[in-house]
Amino acid sequence: MERSGRTVLTVVGNRPQFIKAAAVSAHLRERAEEVLVHTGQHYDPELSDVFFEQLEMPAPDRELGIGSGSHSEQTAAILTRLEPLVAEIEPGALLVYGDTNSTLGGALVAAKAPVPLIHVEAGMRSGNRAMPEELNRMVVDSLAGLLLCSTETALRNLRDEGRDEQAVVTGDVMADIALTFGPIADQRSDVLERLDLEPRGFSVATAHRPGNVDDPERLRLLVDVLSRAAQAAPVVFPVHPRTRSRLDEMRALDGLPERGITAVEPLGYLDMTRLVRAARGVITDSGGLQKEAFLASVPCLTMREETEWVETVEAGWNKLIGLRPEAVEPALAELPAPGATSPAAELYGEGRAGERVAAAVAEWL
Ligand code: UD1
Repeated sequence: MERSGRTVLTVVGNRPQFIKAAAVSAHLRERAEEVLVHTGQHYDPELSDVFFEQLEMPAPDRELGIGSGSHSEQTAAILTRLEPLVAEIEPGALLVYGDTNSTLGGALVAAKAPVPLIHVEAGMRSGNRAMPEELNRMVVDSLAGLLLCSTETALRNLRDEGRDEQAVVTGDVMADIALTFGPIADQRSDVLERLDLEPRGFSVATAHRPGNVDDPERLRLLVDVLSRAAQAAPVVFPVHPRTRSRLDEMRALDGLPERGITAVEPLGYLDMTRLVRAARGVITDSGGLQKEAFLASVPCLTMREETEWVETVEAGWNKLIGLRPEAVEPALAELPAPGATSPAAELYGEGRAGERVAAAVAEWL
């Protein structure tokens, strides 16, 4: 590997980061060298390899193999394994996406090396410091030299913290992939046929936030929320491994079908995208999925009290219902009717964010 000030070392590790890198890598490689490092935070084929294959991404150049563990264990493993790699490659910059432990680990190694740090999806804030992701975002933004924002709201957040001097609004890189791969997913995925679903005849649900699924009482409420939603339309529920093991511990998996909820394994990008685009609604605690539903003009109920993606709520396509089953019906009644078109593409960069990220990085190097 040629050592060069124009080499960007990109760190990814989780499902949403593979999608984000898919939007940026090709553009970045037209303007700079990229070394793609996979931390291994997500390692199951359906949470990792399938994204690389389906989104036609270059394979990672290096893998750290950190696997699962507590936040400290994951972060420490990244620091220990990434530091020598950074010393070997001597990149001109290190680039991280989003707000996970892989983002934090990458950012800390860059800051200590020191290597200039680029943060894609900078400036997102929920205001809820109990979320591990909120702490990760704040730390990473405070270390980054180039802050690339998905939205004007993110830029305003950085301005409020006095961090907007090195900030640029690029649009949202996940939106690029949703817009490009949406029609491809409709053609290539047979998930509706496999699960015997009619377009608009079902809702799709996901849940993986520790604050929602780790505590049995809260997880019970979450299942009640999904049951209420299932009274309007059957719910298809691709279950994250964290959530599956908690439901298993509570012996709650077997009871789901009689509540109108069909639990399935986590889905690859194309299946999930087709499912969302054909759904009547989405119920989730994921940030990415709130946005993907909005981009597909599918209404969303979010099982959280706040969101970083405030545009989805302001435009009327997303309702924050927390874990309140009684909030489901009134929220459903207020959401846009089927057939309406959301303003998401315009708000999130028209599918050109990857290009803008690469341009901003190349100019900054
Ligand atoms: C992580 C991110 C979260 C992101 C999510 C995307 C942090 C703090 N959280 O949460 O922001 O929204 O990824 O999905 O970084 N597991 C497997 N197979 C895997 C990976 C994990 O079975 O390939 C199981 C393990 O039991 C593990 C648990 O899932 O302990 C949680 O995984 P982890 O990566 O720690 O966090 P996520 O909940 O996925």
